[in-house]
Amino acid sequence: MQLRRHLRAWWQSHLVAFSLLLTLIAATPAQGGNQPWIDKSLSPDRRADLVLSQMTLDEKIQLVHGDGWGMLKDAPQPGSNGGAGFVRGIPRLGIPNIDMDDAAIGVRLSAANGRYSTALPSVLALAASWNTDAAQQYGALIGRELRAQGYNMGLGGGVNLARDPRGGRNFEYAGEDPFLAGNIVGYLVKGVQSQHVMSTVKHFALNDQETLRHTVNAVIDEKAMRESDLLAFQIAIRLAEPAAVMCAYNKVNGDYACGNEFLLNKVLKHDFGYKGFVMSDWGATHTIDKAAMAGLDQEQPEGKYFGEPLKAAVQSGAVPQARLDDMVHRILRSMFAAGVMDYPVKRSVVDPFLGRYEARRIAEQTFVLLKNTDHILPLKPDNGTVAVIGGHADVGVLGGSGSAIVDPPGGDPVPAPKGTPDWLRPVYYPSSPLQFIRNYDNKVRIDYADGRDIAAAARLAAGASTAIVFVTQHLAEGRDADNLSLPDNQDALVAAIAAANPHTIVVLENGGPVKMPWLDAVSAVVLAWYPGIGGGEAIADLLYGVVSPSGRLPVSFPLDEADLPRPALPGKGLKNGSPVDVPYTEGTRVGYKWFTAEDKPVLFSFGYGLTYTTFAYADLQADPAGGSVHVTVRNIGPKPGTDVAQVYADLPGLDSSRSRRLVAWSRVTLAPGESRTLTMPVDPQLLSRYDISAGAWRPVRGTIHFLAGPSSSFLPLEIETSWRGR
Ligand code: BGC
Repeated sequence: MQLRRHLRAWWQSHLVAFSLLLTLIAATPAQGGNQPWIDKSLSPDRRADLVLSQMTLDEKIQLVHGDGWGMLKDAPQPGSNGGAGFVRGIPRLGIPNIDMDDAAIGVRLSAANGRYSTALPSVLALAASWNTDAAQQYGALIGRELRAQGYNMGLGGGVNLARDPRGGRNFEYAGEDPFLAGNIVGYLVKGVQSQHVMSTVKHFALNDQETLRHTVNAVIDEKAMRESDLLAFQIAIRLAEPAAVMCAYNKVNGDYACGNEFLLNKVLKHDFGYKGFVMSDWGATHTIDKAAMAGLDQEQPEGKYFGEPLKAAVQSGAVPQARLDDMVHRILRSMFAAGVMDYPVKRSVVDPFLGRYEARRIAEQTFVLLKNTDHILPLKPDNGTVAVIGGHADVGVLGGSGSAIVDPPGGDPVPAPKGTPDWLRPVYYPSSPLQFIRNYDNKVRIDYADGRDIAAAARLAAGASTAIVFVTQHLAEGRDADNLSLPDNQDALVAAIAAANPHTIVVLENGGPVKMPWLDAVSAVVLAWYPGIGGGEAIADLLYGVVSPSGRLPVSFPLDEADLPRPALPGKGLKNGSPVDVPYTEGTRVGYKWFTAEDKPVLFSFGYGLTYTTFAYADLQADPAGGSVHVTVRNIGPKPGTDVAQVYADLPGLDSSRSRRLVAWSRVTLAPGESRTLTMPVDPQLLSRYDISAGAWRPVRGTIHFLAGPSSSFLPLEIETSWRGR
């Protein structure tokens, strides 16, 4: 009795100490044997399963949603790195926080965090390089800077097709062709993930306009979407195996993309065999069990549906435990596959010099020379006075805005219009074309006019030997361009300068296609897109011939809005939140496919771009057994240059022009007189059609026409073949 009383007293007095000890043991990361998933030789799936087997329900729920709007609405969540998203980790199991930030064109939110990020050329510009090596380098730079800033995940990899040239986010995407866009974005994301940083491919799917993006319903038949937008995703996902796919804001055929069983479970996870996780766009989750059962794995940026409500749904059986486990498994396997556990992020100083150097080298490959009468370009130094006009060319180059915004170092040299929300303000990067032009032509007088006073600018131009006019088109997330015209009376400015000076060169800094009513009156047009932090020097190098133009259009430049499948933007003028259907009746015929099929002339066609030399094409041959096509390209001009040889196919069974598609390209640099036979593999999927009844891609039967040349509208070589590919 006595002894028992003693024991009870001893136990009670030590209870607190024992429970403290137990809590401590639970909170201390188990080492080695307790954490078998640290074994790198195991597959990401096995490692994920091993962690999963030790997780509680609450821990699982914690991983399937973000921890709030944080920095996007006011201040970072405690413990977060200050990015656009944050998922709290589980230290007990050695699972790190997922610290993510937008990183389409460079890492976002650097100003607010007091960090530096390199502003790269826009993704559309990158697509104009038609260079997958440049895309991988672009991604690796982003991955490197994410890591240095303390992030283990970047939100980029936008691969929505430029179905509407007015699309507000076209600058973040890679153009209108699924094969080109899928490859460029695929290699970009591969580059990001090469730095042991997770990345996304987004916005899945058919988020092809910004107007009413939260309520718009894309209406399109299955075959058409499989062969267009979904094909771009499929190619990018196959190449990059992104950690996550971000589902979009809009509806597709009546169902929100983030709760869309067909898109998520059927197409993405089943048909594409995608093993990573599906994260919602920010605020794009609308339901609990419907979304979870449709294939959504993580709600962002908060846990409104996938926090406590999902836990209750699992407890009640409305969402099976197995489904929650699958969600968590996918997140963990992506973390292991990207290497975020094995190579934990350690902050360091971003190298702004290397970043600027690389951004400039990439920009050089993206510029498209659209017109060059009498070889006015490249300019010869010392050939008289030069008037530089407009576009804030005295301070820098323009960039796009929205979640893809990259803060310029040193603040904004051009104040934003009053009332513009911070993330939508136009940004200028301190890389002044005027300054770099002056570096070239330091023996001649170079004057600048900002162009606001058109008459004064025209007077300056009239007194100069050459006039260079910079014009800009600013695009931002959440709103589409009103139309295809340059804003702010810039067309009148160009027209006035061209009337005053017969040697007028236009440099465009644009997010997407624009109309050029002054085209006939000017001597040259250079498309610089949003060229990034090395843009000013790259533009000057191109104008003076140190760099040769080698970009080709990844989007068609229409003559007029009336020629588009939807001349007026659907939903324009309606109140926010209004539902609107957008019938994508053009189906697969996006961009050049539409203009070709409809016999509508364009201002500049997909694939087009001049160089400072001339290329000739010969000997187009098909090698079905080898699964490739060959063509010989010769530089018959006086200068070295880079060509982008393009091969298109007209598939049988349809009116040929309706089915034309890009199937191969090759970027090649040749010295004067040099020629090369290019061997280009043709992906069998591009010579197939999606067969709805079979639920699979089927190679086409019959005669295929291959056409080769320097652009979609100039294809001097054509062969007929009964292709029986590998
Ligand atoms: C955009 C996404 C972005 C997210 C987080 C959304 O508004 O559509 O592309 O990643 O915000 O900033």
